[in-house]
Amino acid sequence: MENKTEILINLAKKRGFINQSSEIYGGFSSSYDYGPLGSLLKNKLKELWLNNMIKSDLDIVPIDSAIIMSPKVWEASGHVSNFVDSLVECKECHKRFKQDDVKDSCPVCDGELSAPKKFNILMKTYIGPVEDSASLAYLRGETCQGIFTNFKWIKSSMRKKIPFGIAQIGKAFRNEITPGNFTFRTREFEQMEMQYFVNPDKADIYFDLLKQKRMQFYIDLGFKKENLRFKDHDHLAHYCKRGCDIEYNFPFGWQEIEGIHNRTDFDLTQHSLYSKKDLQYFDEDSKESYTPYVIETSCGCDRVLLAILYDALDGENFSFPYILAPYKVAVLPLVKNKEKIVKKAKQVYTQLKDNFMVDYDQTGSIGKRYARQDEIGTPYAITIDFMSLKNNTVTIRDRKTKKQSRIKINQLNDYLLNNKKSSFIQKIYNLLCKK
Ligand code: GAP
Repeated sequence: MENKTEILINLAKKRGFINQSSEIYGGFSSSYDYGPLGSLLKNKLKELWLNNMIKSDLDIVPIDSAIIMSPKVWEASGHVSNFVDSLVECKECHKRFKQDDVKDSCPVCDGELSAPKKFNILMKTYIGPVEDSASLAYLRGETCQGIFTNFKWIKSSMRKKIPFGIAQIGKAFRNEITPGNFTFRTREFEQMEMQYFVNPDKADIYFDLLKQKRMQFYIDLGFKKENLRFKDHDHLAHYCKRGCDIEYNFPFGWQEIEGIHNRTDFDLTQHSLYSKKDLQYFDEDSKESYTPYVIETSCGCDRVLLAILYDALDGENFSFPYILAPYKVAVLPLVKNKEKIVKKAKQVYTQLKDNFMVDYDQTGSIGKRYARQDEIGTPYAITIDFMSLKNNTVTIRDRKTKKQSRIKINQLNDYLLNNKKSSFIQKIYNLLCKK
């Protein structure tokens, strides 16, 4: 019997969510592509995250900074000297491992391990035609450095007063020694990070506030509460005063999906030193200047998406909460060879598509089409049949209860809006406005 992970990976491939990258060339190690349904889901997650940030009452603004920045950024941030993993190699089978992941001997063949070697996980690239040290640059190892380097500009151009935050979604790259668990750990991934600039005296208050808000975000997304927990950091990075992870209960164990950290004034101080620019904040009330502390919420978009897939997996189907379902409704003509039925079905599709993400499907038996929509978690399926031609009604099937009811075509939009209202509108309200 397939285990949960195999079912998830197969379903994700079969139904256009996620597949290995470059598959026609035999695949490329630990790289993945999102198909139509995967990218709809990912875009929805990103939209909800960003709205949760910029429509909160915390004064948070979005940016979109470059992936390739001045190499000095990564010297200042400490990544060039400190962004290292320790690698050990088995002397027998020559497999390589992260030192943290193994004990005394090789987990594959029990062979003796080599002494650890330090390995910088920043991804290198070269700018221009000559590959030498002068043209060396890096693909960003975390999105937040683009936020720190833009702090001064955003503060003045947007006339921001502390406390305020800057949010960004974008790709980050790490030359991970041991990528794995599908999209859980990859070398190219997307982060959704928010850096909140605060008076150092208020850092603890905002740390606690953001910690609670971030957990509430996952609950509002529809995650099962028992699959989420906080884990306080025992070992803090040198720049970090407090740290806490939000963990998800994956089949391979409780693992971090998001980190919340008090990064102190470390980053702004470093960038100020290296750039020789004043990155302090002048408080007009107290007439004092200080370097703000940063409370960061750092979430892995691909990792959260993987947690969403696991949380939604119900037998061999994805049972998404309405808010996340890639398609909200499917329009299905009962048969495809009756012109009048197909025409009416296309009219229904047109009537709904401006308000809902709609799938139109006319291939295969109606039973198979229902099953396909059940697999991808579409909450409603509308069928246009012979009766529809007589009295302008359709059947609407609720995915959860499998019950069908017959309603007038001109009442469909209201029906769908009202049915989702109790859960959906409330959640949207929570996600976008209230919190
Ligand atoms: N700016 C802080 C920072 O980057 P991190 O704990 O290294 O902190 C934050 O990363 C989040 O990014 C993690 O919680 C995880 O969700 C995601 N992440 C980190 N490395 C990843 C990888 N190799 N593959 C997928 N997601 C990753």
